[in-house]
Amino acid sequence: MNLIKSKKRVADHGEVFTPPWLVEKMLDLVKGETERIDSRFLEPACGSGNFLVPVLQRKLAAVEKKFGKSAFEKRHYALLALMCCYGIELLPDNIAECRANMLEVFAEYLNLVDDADDLYRAAFFVLSLNVVHGDAMTMRDMNGAPISMVEWGYLGKGKFQRRDFRLDVLTGMAGFSAEDSLFSQLGRHEIFTPTKVYPPMTPRDLAGFASGETGEAV
Ligand SMILES: C[S@@+](CC[C@H](N)C(=O)[O-])C[C@H]1O[C@@H](n2cnc3c(N)ncnc32)[C@H](O)[C@@H]1O
Repeated sequence: MNLIKSKKRVADHGEVFTPPWLVEKMLDLVKGETERIDSRFLEPACGSGNFLVPVLQRKLAAVEKKFGKSAFEKRHYALLALMCCYGIELLPDNIAECRANMLEVFAEYLNLVDDADDLYRAAFFVLSLNVVHGDAMTMRDMNGAPISMVEWGYLGKGKFQRRDFRLDVLTGMAGFSAEDSLFSQLGRHEIFTPTKVYPPMTPRDLAGFASGETGEAV
């Protein structure tokens, strides 16, 4: 396996990929969390998904173990597993590869043949939000806007909740970097206040976003 793409990219972006055997060893350090469907993982320099893909695979194995016998539950909990994986990456080719690699694993697990299935398009949409093309140091996306992170939750009966948060607010970075630390004056409830809350959505609703429909926040 090639762990670098070019010497220039190593020099410019520190792009050296982690070999699979080491990824597995590192994930084993938090084995319980990797095997929990709704534990959230954020990889702030995700490359093409060397960590996120195996995390997703472990979560899907947990879905199979718990919900493998019910097609409905299996499909929805598999989507929840995907929804709990997050990445940030600077380089456009890496971000595209990361999303594609994760989508492939997801689609293979559920035998989704193509984007005719709502779940496939819902997963495509989720990945377009969860795997952010941006700079994890400045916490801004490629348009210079603050990176937004989506908190997904499964409400049951095929419905998902979406709430958006600013990454810099979530991590408290904005407060810490201010001249007079605003952070010390912020309460937990203020830090964890979403910038947008959406009404409950089905995979079909999410698939609609992938086709360019806009969703109304509440
Ligand atoms: C050392 S590689 C690791 C990739 C992957 N996490 C792995 O372990 O295989 C670092 C990655 O971070 C990306 N990167 C570098 N600076 C970044 C930044 N400020 N924000 C987001 N990604 C960045 C690079 O493009 C590269 O893909």
